[in-house]
Amino acid sequence: MSKDKTILRALAGETLPTPPIWMMRQAGRYLPEYRATRAEAGDFLSLCYNSELAAEVTLQPIRRYGFDAAILFADILLVPQALGADLWFVTGEGPRLSTITTADELAKLKPADDIHEHLSPVYETVNILSKELPEETTLIGFAGAPWTVATYMIAGQGTPDQGPAHALKADNRTVFDGLMERITEATISYMSAQIEAGAEVVKIFDSWAGSLQGDDFARYSIKPMQRITQALKEKHPGIPVIAFPRGAGEKYIGAHAAIGADCIAVDDGVEADWVAANVQTGGCVQGNLKSTHMVTGGDTLVSETKRIVDALKGGPHIFNLGHGITPDADPENVQLMIDTVRGG
Ligand code: CP3
Repeated sequence: MSKDKTILRALAGETLPTPPIWMMRQAGRYLPEYRATRAEAGDFLSLCYNSELAAEVTLQPIRRYGFDAAILFADILLVPQALGADLWFVTGEGPRLSTITTADELAKLKPADDIHEHLSPVYETVNILSKELPEETTLIGFAGAPWTVATYMIAGQGTPDQGPAHALKADNRTVFDGLMERITEATISYMSAQIEAGAEVVKIFDSWAGSLQGDDFARYSIKPMQRITQALKEKHPGIPVIAFPRGAGEKYIGAHAAIGADCIAVDDGVEADWVAANVQTGGCVQGNLKSTHMVTGGDTLVSETKRIVDALKGGPHIFNLGHGITPDADPENVQLMIDTVRGG
């Protein structure tokens, strides 16, 4: 592992003159070369399980832009599928899964350690990437946090308010806790295998953390991410972990210590100067330009990018968007953001 990699330096707590940069969903539909490779694979899930093509789409934004990190091309919903849930994607709508809401359905899921045969193409993607990435580019593996993955497994699809998961948590805590436990164990096992295959950093996406209120936030977002982080660090000493409790708002304060993460990724619901004063004091932060600037571009993109770089320049910072780039983004705006970050 090269110590010169800027992402690893920032994750180790170093304040760099220019923040390293990568972008959530950097391999995605806004890129014509991604759309072409997805068409070659057939569909999104076939692309995830085709190691050669998944490695190819991971490399596309690195070739085009020279980002400092590459994120493994896969999806957080491959874990439910490996546990035995049915998974398919409806074009224009999003993911669909068979649901887990009863003790019988929970009992039919596979044990957490039985996921690896199904997920072996993902490990092969990591293996290919660790050989093919430029020397200076850091390879990030990832998984969904248990709460976020559970929201999809319980509802069988994305939901605006995660209502079905909140309902199961209220109505049948035994099944809910059992599902959370199974996902937590599977996630530790899955991310550990990614690290063994060559991932140099791992990121845990808790995209729906913001819908957990009061004690639920600590219990179902922070605690499972803390358990995963601790288990990974015990097994792989020194592995840097980025945690993303999206929508946490003021609950981002203290998240580094509570999770034991090296970096907290922040969404665009919090201001960068507030993050500097309240979150970056705990360690490296990642974020948080609004992804709509990748659609609209222009002077506002430049001034907003500079504002964020400037606000966070006093401590370790990895520049990123506040959430994934959208399919309607203009690839030229991505270049403008990178030039602005790197050009000062
Ligand atoms: O960031 C990257 O480039 C790495 C790959 C990656 C994908 N999904 C590829 C993808 C990562 C890290 C994810 C994470 C993911 N997947 C999350 C957490 C982050 C977040 O966005 O909040 C979630 C909630 C999912 C589940 C998921 N996958 C949804 C809800 C959807 C449909 C919505 C959409 O954007 O279409 C997906 C599909 C998906 N995952 C796409 C990509 C590139 C688009 C599929 C396509 O090509 O048609």
